[in-house]
Amino acid sequence: MVVADVVGLGTLFGGLDEDDMYRRFFSARPPPARFIEQMTTVSDRGDFGVVAVLSGSGRDDRLVGEAGYARLPGGDAEVGITVACALRGWLGPYLLDLLVAEARSQGIPNLQAEVLMANRRMMSLLESRGMAVIECYENPAIARVCIGTKGRTPVWSGDAAAPRLLVEAAGGRWRGAEVARRAGFSVLVCPGRPSRLAPCPATAGQPCLLAATSDVIVISVGGERRQGLIEAHRQLHPGVRLCTDAVSSSIEDHGVPILPAATTVEDIAAVIGGLTDDAIVGEVPAVAGPAR
Ligand SMILES: CC(C)(COP(=O)(O)OP(=O)(O)OC[C@H]1O[C@@H](n2cnc3c(N)ncnc32)[C@H](O)[C@@H]1OP(=O)(O)O)[C@@H](O)C(=O)NCCC(=O)NCCS
Repeated sequence: MVVADVVGLGTLFGGLDEDDMYRRFFSARPPPARFIEQMTTVSDRGDFGVVAVLSGSGRDDRLVGEAGYARLPGGDAEVGITVACALRGWLGPYLLDLLVAEARSQGIPNLQAEVLMANRRMMSLLESRGMAVIECYENPAIARVCIGTKGRTPVWSGDAAAPRLLVEAAGGRWRGAEVARRAGFSVLVCPGRPSRLAPCPATAGQPCLLAATSDVIVISVGGERRQGLIEAHRQLHPGVRLCTDAVSSSIEDHGVPILPAATTVEDIAAVIGGLTDDAIVGEVPAVAGPAR
């Protein structure tokens, strides 16, 4: 992506319908010229951007896609990506994989994105690359998600001192996430949607780096999947503390501690903080108390 791409990018964005404009920019209007100019100087800031150009058949070259990332505090980078309607079906995954390869070569551990939950194409694309959910917002429903650049899952990044709470919850939403974050935990939620390209390593019988480097895993899914995950994590990640939450727990959970409905920092601190006494985990750092 270079300054000469300003016109092509303006045409690409101008051709998006209102829904796609909102999906990409969280605004119904095309971005102003100065915003696009700023995008094209991405490499001056040490970040990365590419454009896809359709050429040949005697027609003028046409810019049909753009993708880029910008570094975030904490080491990850945030992606943005647009593909012209007529080229959808393969170009988005291709551009995303380019970003992943470039980020990996630059030592960036994860790529993050803020995605409207209703943006099924982008969500499916990220799910197929092993996405985990960092945080969910309401009105509009948006998820901040991440994918790893080195393996099939993201890795823990950001505050290295914070205890790491990995949650297995359908759809990537866990009711205790906000409380746990306020209690000082780093929280990532695995949505657990089966994907051909990114199957869950643990349920496939293989160690999962994300799970293995967590302090606590909360299993918040029901039925056979819960049993399968409890057994898989026990076997593959024996040093990581497991618990289930009240929604999914049953007597079949065989000794896995139950997290009650977590409504306050104190609730979650009492249960998860209490795990620090357990020799299996060794040290889960003390819970921080009130919101920070
Ligand atoms: C998001 C975007 C970049 C994806 O690129 P694309 O070329 O359309 O990607 P694909 O056609 O391969 O679709 C991606 C996935 O969505 C799935 N998909 C396609 N249409 C879908 C639909 N209507 N509902 C649900 N899933 C759908 C595809 O099967 C694919 O999943 P897979 O990887 O598991 O096979 C592109 O659609 C786009 O530019 N959208 C508007 C801007 C935007 O939303 N940007 C992202 C915000 S940062």
